[in-house]
Amino acid sequence: MLINVKDLTKIYQMGDVQVHALRGVTFTITQGEFIAIMGPSGSGKSTMMDILGCLATPTSGDYFLEGEEVGKLSDNRLADIRNKKIGFVFQSFNLLPRTSALNNVELPLIYSGLGRKERKRRAFESLEAVGLADRVDHKSTELSGGQIQRVAIARALVNKPSMIFADEPTGNLDTRSGAEIMAIFNRLNDEGNTIIMVTHEAEVAEHAKRVLHIRDGLIERDVRQNGYEETAAD
Ligand SMILES: Nc1ncnc2c1ncn2[C@@H]1O[C@H](COP(=O)(O)OP(=O)(O)O)[C@@H](O)[C@H]1O
Ligand SMILES: [Mg+2]
Repeated sequence: MLINVKDLTKIYQMGDVQVHALRGVTFTITQGEFIAIMGPSGSGKSTMMDILGCLATPTSGDYFLEGEEVGKLSDNRLADIRNKKIGFVFQSFNLLPRTSALNNVELPLIYSGLGRKERKRRAFESLEAVGLADRVDHKSTELSGGQIQRVAIARALVNKPSMIFADEPTGNLDTRSGAEIMAIFNRLNDEGNTIIMVTHEAEVAEHAKRVLHIRDGLIERDVRQNGYEETAAD
């Protein structure tokens, strides 16, 4: 079992007002799944992703990641998990604007202890994997939206994480660029990576093998699709 969450809640306190973003969410995810989390705006998708990605803590409930209870891990261990096991891709690409694609992708390796040459080699390899070998010296301002998102994916992959967390990865892209991103995710999943992706677009969710529909902070439906067999819970 890769991910096991039980009765997760998240309440944001806004002055006197409490916002119940998650109201008790329970599910499991096994290694190698490709999951889309779908739901209307404000339903709690990003909150759930932030908790799964160890970027935020729930108000109550349990979260086990590879058998470890996340709430009991030290900040150092959490930082290590975020850096090595998880690759994050966001809707707003979060790249440094006046920096080349290669240097942007290399960033997560700066504290890895690897030498400069090895860092460049890995960054290049990662850009090659998303079809951008011929754009390594381009700055963000010299790339299209789809290419920028591919640089962001290359950066998320450079530490060879086994899990990719993507929050609306195609949200700012035209249809064709979005399709390119989904082709990359499908390939990464075929290679054994677990992918968890938030989207509110049905066409994008079609690429996933399983869709968690969330509404008002609760899971409404958990659907296996594309003819993929329902896997027995383990
Ligand atoms: N940092 C925050 N502080 C207060 N309320 C928040 C915060 N983040 C999200 N919310 C609220 O929690 C609910 C769920 O938000 P979010 O998880 O971002 O939903 P989604 O990603 O599905 O649009 C919304 O009502 C939102 O306004
Ligand atoms: Mg969101």
